[in-house]
Amino acid sequence: MQIEIVEPKLLAGVVADEIVALVQEALADRPRCSIALSGGSTPATIYRAISHPPRVGEIEWGRLDLFLGDERWVPETDNLSNYKMIKESLLLHLPEPGPKVYPVNTSLSSPGESAKDYEKTLRSVLGKGSGSGVIFDLMILGIGEDGHTASLFPGSPVLKKSDALCYAVSHPLDDTKRITLSVETVFSARRVIFIATGKAKAEIVQKVIEGSDSPEVYPARFFTGAMDRTSWFLDSEAGALLGDR
Ligand code: 6PG
Repeated sequence: MQIEIVEPKLLAGVVADEIVALVQEALADRPRCSIALSGGSTPATIYRAISHPPRVGEIEWGRLDLFLGDERWVPETDNLSNYKMIKESLLLHLPEPGPKVYPVNTSLSSPGESAKDYEKTLRSVLGKGSGSGVIFDLMILGIGEDGHTASLFPGSPVLKKSDALCYAVSHPLDDTKRITLSVETVFSARRVIFIATGKAKAEIVQKVIEGSDSPEVYPARFFTGAMDRTSWFLDSEAGALLGDR
């Protein structure tokens, strides 16, 4: 498992360069590249870095299929919407032809309906009509201080489920509704990139990377086992408690 720890001001550029390289690698082998984008606040600077010069010209955006790893069940105009953050920090700045973008449809009658609708989209676009796993080329993930990633929260019943590619869930603290890719779908990605910044994440980063708690306790640990497919990009504050490397 690759772990990069860099100065805070350098992190966005380092991750942006890695994304460019992974996209170019995927497109050298396949006609299109599928990416599941993280929500939250951390990735915005990285999305801005890849959607502005010089890197914006290094990606063939028209050959990308962009999805969300999770979404809050709010209107796309709501400041809590991950799609709104992704649109403002990435999509609005991209040249034509742009990527095909697949946001979660949160205007349906219930979170469950939105999850079912997203499942259909995932299967139709990523060509996995069968029961087999979905293969993203790249999964970009953040991590919460409780060890959640996407909207896979500690102790959630969906951690043990694999009958769907995505699920409607509730946030354990405020019961807000979300749609999340399943553990299996996240795990099926060819490459998984975790990004974490700031002192507040140092403890959970250390527990997830170096601890031995069950992934039920810290769901991000489901993906630390995929040693050669998982990379961590941390700033020096978030990586401060990791042992010498
Ligand atoms: C979300 C994200 C979530 C996020 C972490 C970290 O919808 O909130 O998908 O998994 O990555 O909570 O969030 P920050 O980047 O805001 O710290």
